[in-house]
Amino acid sequence: MSREKLLELARENLKYVEDYVDTGQLPLADDVFEVPVANYFDPDRWEAEMDLIFKRIPLMLGFSVEIPKAGNYKAMEVAGVPLILVRGKDGLIRGFVNMCSHRGAQILDNGSGSARSFSCPYHAWTYNLTGDLIAILDEQDFGEVDTSCMGLTALNVEERVGLIWGSITPGVELHLDEFLAGYDDLLDNHDFENCVFVGQQTLDGPNWKVAYDGYLDQYHLPILHGDTFGSDYCNVAKFINWGPHQRMQVPDYRHLELADLPEEEWPIAMLTSGVWTIFPHISIASFGLDKARYKEGGKIYQVSQLFPGPDPDTSITHQNYLATFEPDDEQMEQINKQKDFLRYVVAEEDYFTGNRIQKTVKTGAKSHFVFGRNEGGPQRFHRWTDALVAAKNEKDLLKLYETGVV
Ligand code: FES
Ligand SMILES: [Fe+2]
Repeated sequence: MSREKLLELARENLKYVEDYVDTGQLPLADDVFEVPVANYFDPDRWEAEMDLIFKRIPLMLGFSVEIPKAGNYKAMEVAGVPLILVRGKDGLIRGFVNMCSHRGAQILDNGSGSARSFSCPYHAWTYNLTGDLIAILDEQDFGEVDTSCMGLTALNVEERVGLIWGSITPGVELHLDEFLAGYDDLLDNHDFENCVFVGQQTLDGPNWKVAYDGYLDQYHLPILHGDTFGSDYCNVAKFINWGPHQRMQVPDYRHLELADLPEEEWPIAMLTSGVWTIFPHISIASFGLDKARYKEGGKIYQVSQLFPGPDPDTSITHQNYLATFEPDDEQMEQINKQKDFLRYVVAEEDYFTGNRIQKTVKTGAKSHFVFGRNEGGPQRFHRWTDALVAAKNEKDLLKLYETGVV
C-alpha cells in the first residue's frame, strides 16, 4: 500500500489548506458545465446507462470481510440482475447469476449466510460452492444429462484491497487495472480487509445520478444540512482523480497541525481523510468515535453503494459500515446512533430533495442544469458518464480508460 503516495497528496493538501486560509479560494474547474435535464429521466438515456455502464464496467459489489470463510455467501440484486457472491473452499470468491439451470428459479434469497451447497427451492437441483450442478432430483427423467455444462452461470469477479469487484453480465471482462488507474493502491490504505463489518441499512432514493451528484457535492453541505451537521463546514472542496474515480477534500484547518509534525508521524486518519468515491456508484466517508482513537486510525467507514432502481426515477442505496477496530458494546451503541443519524440525513435531507428534483426535471421548465466551476467533481462524473455511453464497443471502452475525459 502506498503511504508515500498518500504523503505526497497530504503535502499538496496542506498547501491547498494554507492557500485557502490566505485567499479563501481553491482551484476551480476551467468552465461551467451544462447537463441536459432529460439525462435524469429519459428512458432511452437510462437504458443506455444500464447497458453501457452498470452492465459493462466493474462494480464494487461487497467487502471481503462480509464473506470471510469458505461457504460464506452474499446474494443481492444489482441493476435488475440477481447474483450470488460466494467464497469457495480454495479461498477464492466467485460470482454467479442467482438463477437455476433447470427453470430459472432464484436459488437464494437476498442476504448473507453460509452453506456447503445450494439447493434450489423450486425442485431441489443442487449446486456446490464452485457452481457445479451436483444433484438432480429424479435424474432418470431428464434423459442423458451432461451436468458439466449445467452449472450456475459465472460472472467475472475479483477480490482486491478488501473489496469485491465484479461484472453483472456473464462473459464481460473486468479490465480492472485499466478501470482503476492506480486508485486501488490508494484505496488499500483504508485497510478494508482488516475491518469489522458492523452493519448495513438500505434507503430508497431518486434517479441514480440525481442521488450520486449529492455525494460529489460540497456546495450544498452548509445549506441543505445546515440544521443537522453542515453548519461547521465550508462549501468548497478540491477533487483529485484517478480515471473516473475521485477523492473529495474540504480545506480542513486541522491539517495545518501537520506542518509542525515529522512526516512519519502524520496520522493515517488524516492521510486518508475526505470522501473517496468509486465510479459510478460508491462513496466512502468516515467518522471517529473519539479524537484520540481517530488519530490512531480508529474510525468507522460509511461506504454508500448506490444502485439504479427498476426505472429511471428510482435508486437503492446500501449504507455499509466497517470499523477499523473491534467495537465493544458501548462503542457499538455509539455506532448505531450514528447510523440512525446518517440514515436520517441522507433520507430526509439529500433524498428528500432528490425526489423532489425527480419531479421538477419532467416539468419541461428547464432544458439544462448548470454545474459551476466550484463543482468540478460532479462535472467530471457527468463527463465520464457521457463518454461511457458514447463508447459503444470494447475497443472504445479500453481507449477511454487509457485517455480519460478532458
Ligand atoms: S427451477 Fe430450480 S430445480 Fe427447478
Ligand atoms: Fe448531502
